Amino acid sequence: MTPDAKILSALRENSDGVSGAELAGQLRVTRAAIWSRIEELRALGYEIEAGPHFGYRLVGEPDALHADDLLARLGKTKTIGRDIRVFEQTTSTNDVVEKLARDGVREGVVVFAESQTRGRGRLGRKWLSPARKGLWFSILLRPNLRPQETTQLTVASAVALRRAIASETGLSVGIKWPNDVLVAGKKAAGILTEMSAELDKVRYATLGIGIDVNLGAADFPSELRKLATSLRIEAGAPVSRAALATAILRELDRVYSDICAGKFSAIADEWEEHCATIGNNVAVQIGDRKIRGRAESLDNDGALLLRTEHGRLEPIFGGDVTIER
Ligand code: BTN
Repeated sequence: MTPDAKILSALRENSDGVSGAELAGQLRVTRAAIWSRIEELRALGYEIEAGPHFGYRLVGEPDALHADDLLARLGKTKTIGRDIRVFEQTTSTNDVVEKLARDGVREGVVVFAESQTRGRGRLGRKWLSPARKGLWFSILLRPNLRPQETTQLTVASAVALRRAIASETGLSVGIKWPNDVLVAGKKAAGILTEMSAELDKVRYATLGIGIDVNLGAADFPSELRKLATSLRIEAGAPVSRAALATAILRELDRVYSDICAGKFSAIADEWEEHCATIGNNVAVQIGDRKIRGRAESLDNDGALLLRTEHGRLEPIFGGDVTIER
């Protein structure tokens, strides 16, 4: 943990205050060094009171993402979030992670951007990423999976997002295969998994996640308002992005270690339990092809098993699914 992360953890653990001497002891630096770090944290928007009786006390936090703060909140994880980087603006966080992957950075690094100029969604769509209103981030993974098994990553990520969003906001959250997180039947988050692979082995995967956290209705273009929503709109109050980001990274770390341990089936069960797609008649658009059928379940690779009009069971690995009523 960096010195700032240690200071923020100590302040959060001791809401009544912690003395400069105690912090200096924990970090093995002088009290003057602590004072100068506190000044820097204040400049970043942390409201830290100082007083002779209580030492330092954290009374307010900025609505900005700060790598040290996220590391401090997250604590120790197995893989995901052991390295966190925050950019004010990027083209797409998936591009940044891809470069890190090519540079040989180890898996688990998470790249957040406060805004993206060229955020992208699945099927070549644009992804709206206004500054400080959402969580726009990507994670580098080097899983021991075959290319067709990477759907497992998307499915597991949807499960992790659902868990964390539900527990942080109290909202009822659903999933639409493979990557949409729904609140009140509208899309509130999406996942874009990209990979570099050999024929039978994934070199690395980039898991890109976009969550509409604090957008207002006016932030969505009119054509999206019927289809998309934000957590703030549905919860009726702003949501702390840092707290939500931490909860998500913790859940992602859990599901990823389950996948690495070959325990995908429990995740698939949880996914099916919350999935709005299963049990419905759907149409899947794959390029120029449209397949219709009843979505029956997931297979071991995370593919959607579709009972087609001709009675065949067809695994679907990608494409755009619409539920037909
Ligand atoms: C989708 O539902 O179509 C997937 C959307 C994924 C958006 C995220 S935002 C962070 C990362 N960077 C991108 O350019 N896209 C993903």
